[in-house]
Amino acid sequence: MIEWPEEKDQINKILALIKERKGIDFVDYKRSTIIRRIKRRMDMLEMGNILEYINYIEEFIDEIDTLHNEIFIGVTSFFRDKEAFRALGENVIPKLFNDKLAGMGVRIWSAGCSTGEEAYSLAILFSEYLETTKEQYTVKIFATDINDIALAKASAGVYTIESLKDVSQERLDKYFDKKGNYYQVKKHIREMIIFAKHNIISHPPFSKLDLIVCRNLLIYLENSVQKYVFSAFDFSLNSNGYLFLGSSESLGEISENYKPFDFKSKIFRRVVESSSRSKKVVDRDFGTLDSKYTSISKNLNANSVDRSVEKIIQSLQNEYIPKGVIVNETYDLIHSFGDVNEFVRIPTNRISLNLLKMIRKDLSVAVGTALQNVFVSGKEIKYNNINANESGKGIINLIVKLYVDEISNTRYGILLFEENKERPTYNLHTQEFNLQEKSYERIEDLENELKSNREYLQALIEELESSNEELQSMNEELVSSNEELQNTNEELQSVNEEIYTLNTSYNKKIEELTEVNEDINTILALSDVILILIDEHLKIRRFTPGATKVINLIKNDIGRDLADIAIKVKYDNLIEDIKTVAKTLKSIKRTVLADNDTKYQFNINVYKNKNDSLKQIVINVVEEM
Ligand SMILES: C[S@@+](CC[C@H](N)C(=O)[O-])C[C@H]1O[C@@H](n2cnc3c(N)ncnc32)[C@H](O)[C@@H]1O
Repeated sequence: MIEWPEEKDQINKILALIKERKGIDFVDYKRSTIIRRIKRRMDMLEMGNILEYINYIEEFIDEIDTLHNEIFIGVTSFFRDKEAFRALGENVIPKLFNDKLAGMGVRIWSAGCSTGEEAYSLAILFSEYLETTKEQYTVKIFATDINDIALAKASAGVYTIESLKDVSQERLDKYFDKKGNYYQVKKHIREMIIFAKHNIISHPPFSKLDLIVCRNLLIYLENSVQKYVFSAFDFSLNSNGYLFLGSSESLGEISENYKPFDFKSKIFRRVVESSSRSKKVVDRDFGTLDSKYTSISKNLNANSVDRSVEKIIQSLQNEYIPKGVIVNETYDLIHSFGDVNEFVRIPTNRISLNLLKMIRKDLSVAVGTALQNVFVSGKEIKYNNINANESGKGIINLIVKLYVDEISNTRYGILLFEENKERPTYNLHTQEFNLQEKSYERIEDLENELKSNREYLQALIEELESSNEELQSMNEELVSSNEELQNTNEELQSVNEEIYTLNTSYNKKIEELTEVNEDINTILALSDVILILIDEHLKIRRFTPGATKVINLIKNDIGRDLADIAIKVKYDNLIEDIKTVAKTLKSIKRTVLADNDTKYQFNINVYKNKNDSLKQIVINVVEEM
C-alpha cells in the first residue's frame, strides 16, 4: 500500500476537482489505487511534487478528464478467466431457463462492462445455449459502465485480432465479421445487449435479474461501498438468481442470502425469497475490530510477570497459602505454589501451558467456569465442596481471585485448591459447587467464546480478502500498464514501418535522380553548345566542354566563384551583367570579341525553380559567323 499521508489534503483537493467537473466521487474508491493513478500521471508529466500537479490541473483543466479516465482501469478481455466462463456456460446458463416458459425472457446485468468484451462473451454463451433448445426465449443483457469512452468502444463491437486471442477460431468465424484489420461482433449478438452509462454506486440498480455479472470492479471500491453495492444486487436479483464475481472478489456480509454455487469460479446463488430482499441501503460505516483481540495479543513482559508473581505470593503469605497456581488472561500457567501435582498434570502429547488442558478432568468444569466468571466480573469466587472423586482424594474447595498489575495493566487469575480438612481462610462469597449447573454455565461460556472467536476469524478473513483485493487491483494496474506499453510498442512499430516505406521510396527517387543527372552530364559533355550554369552567388555549377573556349575553366572549378576565373574574351562587365540579371530577372545579350577576333554572343538568362527558392543563371554563348 502506498503511503502518502502528508499529501492527504492535496489528494482530497484533486478528488474535489474531479467531483466538481465530472460528478464522480472517488472518495468511494480505494485510496491506494487513487494515489497510484495520480502518481502515474505525475510521472508521465515528469512532476515530482503534488502541488505542481495541482497547479497544472488548475491551468489545464482537461487534465481532470485524463486523470478521471486513468482512474477507471478498464482491463478486460473476452472470456476472462476461461474456466469460470466455461462453468457459467455449462452449469449456470441452462439452469436460468429451467423455470422459464417458452417465450419468456432471461435478464442479465454486466455491471462495469468496460469495453464490452465481457458482455459479448456472455451473449455468445447464451446464444450457444439457445441453439441447443427448441424453445424460443428472449435474452437481454444490460451492460453498463461509468466510462463513456469505454462504452463507445463497447457499442461499436469492433476489436483487433490481438484482443480476440482468447476466442476460439470456431467462435471467431461464427460470431464475428472481418472488417479490414478488425473484427466486428455480428449484429444478432450485438442486438442481445443494451449498453448504457450507469454508476453502480449512485444510480438505481436494475431489477428482476436472473444473473448479475460484476467482475473486477468491486476490488476498486472501499469496503463500505462494496457493502452498499451488494445490497443493491440483493435487491436486483430474483430469488434463485446468480451472482458472478471476479476471481479475487467475494460476498461481504450479505453472504447469508447466498450459497456458493461454484466457489472456485466465484459463482453464487441467491437462496432467499424475493420478498426478503434488502430494501435499504446499508450503512457504510464499519466498526473496528473488538479491542479485546488486540489486548490479548499483547506480549507479556517477563519482568513484569516475575514482579506480579512476587507480589501475589507476598499478598498470599500475609494470610495463608494453600496449594495453587497463577494464570494469565488466556489461562496460561505462569506459576504454581505448593504441591499441585495432584490437580495439574503435564499433558503427554503436545505441550501446552493452558491450564484447562492440564487440570485434572474432574476439576476442569469448575476451574473453567470460575476463571471465566472472575475475569469477566472481576470478583473473587469460591466453590465449596467440589467432589473430586476421580482421584479418590475427597472433597476440595476452589478459590479464584483476580490480581491486576497496575503498572503493566495485566490481569492474572489466582487459583487456590483448599482441601476441606484445611482451615478455611477465605470468607468469600461462597457457592456450593453443583457440577451439572456449572457444566451448563461452562458450556454457555464456551459457546459465547466460540461465537466471538468466529466473529474475530470472520474479521480476519475479511481483512485478508481485502489485502487480496488490493493485490489483485495492483495486478490489474500492472496488466493495464503492460497493455499501454504494448500499445506504445505497436505504435512505434507502425511508425517504424512508415519510416521504412518512406526510406524505400526515397531510395528509389535518389536512383532516378542519379540517372537523370548522369543523362544531363552525358548530354552536356557530348554537345557543342557553350553553356555555363552558375548560382545567384556566382558559384559555378556546371559547364559544357565548349565553355573552355571563352572562359579558362577546368573540371575542378565547379563550386568556385566565376569572378575568380580568367576569361578569354573582352567582356569586362561580365560579372556585373550577371549580377544585374540575378537582381532584375531580365536577360542580357552582349556580343564580344575573343583574343583571336572571333565574335561571341553571350546570352545571360535567369530561371527560378518551382517554389522560387533557387535562382540559376544560365550563360549561353554562341559563336557568330
Ligand atoms: C477492471 S474493469 C473490469 C471489466 C470487466 N468487468 C472484466 O472483469 O473484464 C473495471 C470497470 O469498472 C468500471 N467502473 C469503475 N467504477 C464504476 C462505477 N462506479 N460504476 C460503473 N462502472 C464502474 C470501470 O470504468 C471499468 O471499465
